[in-house]
Amino acid sequence: MQKTKIAPSLLAADFGNLQRDVEMVNNSVADWHHIDVMDGVFVPNISYGMPVIKAIQKHTTKPLDVHLMIVDPDRYIGTFAELGAAIITVHYEACSHLHRTIQAIKAAGMKAGVALNPHTNINLLEDIISDIDLVLIMSVNPGFGGQSFIENTYEKIKTLKELIQRKNASALIEIDGGVSTENARKLIDAGADVLVAGSFVFKSENPLQTISELKSVADGI
Ligand code: DX5
Ligand code: ZN
Repeated sequence: MQKTKIAPSLLAADFGNLQRDVEMVNNSVADWHHIDVMDGVFVPNISYGMPVIKAIQKHTTKPLDVHLMIVDPDRYIGTFAELGAAIITVHYEACSHLHRTIQAIKAAGMKAGVALNPHTNINLLEDIISDIDLVLIMSVNPGFGGQSFIENTYEKIKTLKELIQRKNASALIEIDGGVSTENARKLIDAGADVLVAGSFVFKSENPLQTISELKSVADGI
């Protein structure tokens, strides 16, 4: 069985010490760097833009998992490809022509993910699941770190897992929002493959150790 992937979200890092926090993730057992991009339109908040992401990227040693919470994400696919992003995840709710967007991400040499807000039904992915490399289920409303986990997420993971199996698809299931060692095991048991964690990692006393704990709990060790 594939091991659980852990993707610390840099949104919760100390922006005055980004290099230090990126290097902490490099030195940890984490698998990916999760980069949250917000435009103040699709979500109420603005996070960071290309100059900051370019600066971050200079120090990263693990794949960049880019989560775009922006309208019309097609505009930036080329830019993220140049930056060396491994995965681009766009929001279902932000794309009028999702199939075209996914093909464009893949054509640019990256993995394509689709994120769903808490209110968006899993079955809307039925006709596109086989084209997707990853589905990100939002377990909080997007826009901010540090929010409470929404319990309905477990049901959504199970429904998605069934859909993936029924369609013989291979998309990974990523969970984003309110993830901690409290719910990690239950999320993995429901079918999650990748756990994003922001506040739980970066607001802890020892982020390096917290990442290890999260990985151990998720892997059932
Ligand atoms: C929220 C972002 C998340 C966020 C998670 O819109 O997509 O990646 O950083 O933060 P926590 O883990 O604090 O809920
Ligand atoms: Zn995210």
